[in-house]
Amino acid sequence: MANIVNFLTTNHESAKRDYLERMSIDKPLCMEVAAKFSKDYWDGDRKYGYGGYRYDGRWKKIAEALIEKYNLTSKSSILDVGCGMGHLIYELKNLLNCRVRGIDISEYAKSNTIESIREDIEIVDIKGPLYFMDQEFDLAVSIMTLHNLEIPDLELSISEIVRVSRASYIAVESYRDSQELFNLQCWALTCQSFLSPRAWEWVLSKNGYSDRDLELLYFS
Ligand SMILES: C[S@@+](CC[C@H](N)C(=O)[O-])C[C@H]1O[C@@H](n2cnc3c(N)ncnc32)[C@H](O)[C@@H]1O
Repeated sequence: MANIVNFLTTNHESAKRDYLERMSIDKPLCMEVAAKFSKDYWDGDRKYGYGGYRYDGRWKKIAEALIEKYNLTSKSSILDVGCGMGHLIYELKNLLNCRVRGIDISEYAKSNTIESIREDIEIVDIKGPLYFMDQEFDLAVSIMTLHNLEIPDLELSISEIVRVSRASYIAVESYRDSQELFNLQCWALTCQSFLSPRAWEWVLSKNGYSDRDLELLYFS
């Protein structure tokens, strides 16, 4: 069993979302555009993703919470799987001056993020094996990324996170009832694995993710 943690839920729950507005006739097209994780996803119209990505410092509090929870120090090494613009590792590096590494498929995110973190981000498709050594990282995090994979790809990516890290924290989208599933289906642009808590637990534990940390984000 994974340990359920809360780093993001409070903030996630405070956001207002108009689910039905998102479920428009052109949503399939928007999903195809979003799935490229290129300029439209980050800085295009809201219907393709973030709708203009501006960093407002929000990852600092989360970085501080991770440092406390996982006893991270300047000697720690931290991997962010699906790091996007890399703002979490940017904050961790600022706070700890430790080794950080972000991996992501989005060339646009890497090219358009804060310059000081760019060299710590590598373009990697996490559907394939990671090139890191066993337990190379003290902590691996993967935030709002793994649900973007189909279940057969999830298997490898989860087992790779387990392999390369001593401790880990995964945050993914989920649902507890029909209303939350409907809301998630309206809202999600890039989600491929719509899984209940039971199904997440199943796929995680089947791939060695036991006694590690998990946060499930719901769309109520
Ligand atoms: C919702 S964003 C989350 C980004 C970041 N973790 C955050 O919370 O701000 C999902 C991220 O997953 C990345 N991603 C999706 N599929 C991927 C893949 N197959 N390999 C690597 N990264 C992927 C996207 O490029 C995007 O940066």
